[in-house]
Amino acid sequence: MRRSLSSSLVVGAIFALLLREISAVKTDVSNLRRRSPDDGTRSLCSHLIRPNGYPCTEHTVQTKDGYLLALQRVSSRNGNLRVQCGPPVLLVHGLFMQGGDAWFLDSTEESLGFILADHGFDVWVANVRGTHWSHGHVTLSEKSKGFWDWSWQDLALYDLAEMICFINLKTSSKIFLVGHSQGTIVSLAALTQPDVVEMVEAAALLSPISYLDHITAPLVRRMVSMHLDQMVLALGIHQLNFRSNVLIDLIDSLCDGHLDCNDLLTAITGKNCCFNNSRVDFYLENEPHPSSAKNIHHLFQMIRQGTFSQYDYGFFKNLRLYGQTKPPAFDLTRIPKSLPLWMSYGGNDALADVIDVQHTLNELQSTPELVYLENYGHMDFILSINGKEDLYKSLIGFFRSGGKSSSS
Ligand SMILES: *[C@@H]1O[C@H](CO)[C@@H](O)[C@H](O)[C@H]1NC(C)=O
Repeated sequence: MRRSLSSSLVVGAIFALLLREISAVKTDVSNLRRRSPDDGTRSLCSHLIRPNGYPCTEHTVQTKDGYLLALQRVSSRNGNLRVQCGPPVLLVHGLFMQGGDAWFLDSTEESLGFILADHGFDVWVANVRGTHWSHGHVTLSEKSKGFWDWSWQDLALYDLAEMICFINLKTSSKIFLVGHSQGTIVSLAALTQPDVVEMVEAAALLSPISYLDHITAPLVRRMVSMHLDQMVLALGIHQLNFRSNVLIDLIDSLCDGHLDCNDLLTAITGKNCCFNNSRVDFYLENEPHPSSAKNIHHLFQMIRQGTFSQYDYGFFKNLRLYGQTKPPAFDLTRIPKSLPLWMSYGGNDALADVIDVQHTLNELQSTPELVYLENYGHMDFILSINGKEDLYKSLIGFFRSGGKSSSS
């Protein structure tokens, strides 16, 4: 009962958001707002990382299609950014995140970003296009339709590929990759590309997703069956601008007496066991992030079609763009057997369902090292207060051994 109440409230909230978006688009002044990388208010280093005592520098990476992405480099509290001893690790955040802050939301003892830095890794933090900390585009305004004309395949083939290449050049070293949620979709898609995988030492995937057709999240199922994605696109909405604070305000007001915020999160992510409940307000202050309507549509296509494929433009446009009527699949068998993989998935994860994870495993040539946590929901993988014991020690052990433990 409560769940269906919260779903309808959220669906109502989303429609209110869409209406606000339409009026926002009409008043678009389309002035290009380029942020300087480290101006204090708009940098992840100064927002979350340096205040916790960790040295942090901001970098900007330009993709082949003109997006300017923020990348942060973090080292341990007693470390020195001029001397990076440990191997580079790139952290790739998920869909509900406003950017790389996802890895730093709990205490320094609990958050994977800080823990990796304390273990001597050279930590790099990805922020994909359209997220809070990324820096726009060389020519396109963030208010323009063109700026939001992307889905996760572009995050894989342009953003992640470019960031990996940048770090590889800077450090002259192969990279350890860590992804969560959409960060795993993007990582798996990128790793099917030979020119990317040759720069990667090993990959660790938290809540791994490639197939999505067994997703159980009631709120997501509801939006898929309502064809919310097609409705949004038909309305000419290209950006779901959570940065405008509209959704945050809506969620805040929903939480304020109307429903338990843990219920809302549960409806989207599954039952999370191990949040710090007194930090939920803080999480909501920092999340969720803006995304493109095209990206949501692409994800919903995966749910409907059971595929791990490129964006489906429809028969004729597919034929024109891909030379075939159906979009080409990302072929997981192209991820080399020699690439060490580590994966952790949860029994209560409503987005990365166990059946879908098994589907992914069946297609991979290698046998990843697996950590299954029965009580974990989707967000526990980055926010659990027990993450260090449950997950991160195993992940760090895997990286320290160069992933050798899984190579057989
Ligand atoms: C939970 O969050 C509160 C508020 O930030 C903090 O004081 C407390 O130490 C946290 N508890 C745990 C177990 O991390």
